[in-house]
Amino acid sequence: MEQKSWLRVAILISLLLYLVAEEVLSKCILFTAELKFAHKDNLPVYNHTIAMTLVEYASAVYLKDLTGLATWTCSRCGDLTEGFEMIELIVDVEHCLQGFVGVAKDLNAIVIAFRGSASIMNWIEDLYWKQLDLKYPGMPDAMVHHGFYSSYHETTVRTGVLHAVKRAKELYGDINIMVTGHSMGGAMAAFCALDLAVIIMNPFFS
Ligand SMILES: *[C@@H]1O[C@H](CO)[C@@H](O)[C@H](O)[C@H]1NC(C)=O
Repeated sequence: MEQKSWLRVAILISLLLYLVAEEVLSKCILFTAELKFAHKDNLPVYNHTIAMTLVEYASAVYLKDLTGLATWTCSRCGDLTEGFEMIELIVDVEHCLQGFVGVAKDLNAIVIAFRGSASIMNWIEDLYWKQLDLKYPGMPDAMVHHGFYSSYHETTVRTGVLHAVKRAKELYGDINIMVTGHSMGGAMAAFCALDLAVIIMNPFFS
């Protein structure tokens, strides 16, 4: 009899652990977005080559070899991402964040990539899940994850990205922008894409 109840407890604990693991895994999202301001009848469709290429950028941004990244000679800088021209490496040492902005000539696009959680500090930001009101135009009642929001908006990351995008546009004209990242980087990519969409649609941004 006693053995049976222990078995039940064990099953319950396993189930609980499984649910927690599921929750953690579901947070490991990969976000990639292609910003397009096309007409409705020309909606972007899923393109496997572009998706795989953006995964490579999301993978490369994890590397600590900053020289290799800057010159695009790092161990993950090859194959689909060959010929990438780095415009700016963004490293926020205080908040342990990393990203880059550059131009992929074969895609004729600006590519922005964000690294995911790489430190205890990032994990604390991950856990800072309490939601925050998002005050974007035309989005009443929108709420977002506070930690991820701060990682993009309240660090040097946003300024670095906007500055680099401006420079890339000066050099290459009005080309598409693709944003990518894994885990926390995926969440930051989502905030960045929204931010850029709002800014670019504002005529004062040149
Ligand atoms: C996917 O994107 C690549 C790179 O821009 C392009 O060369 C290719 O034609 C696209 N494929 C499809 C099916 O649209």
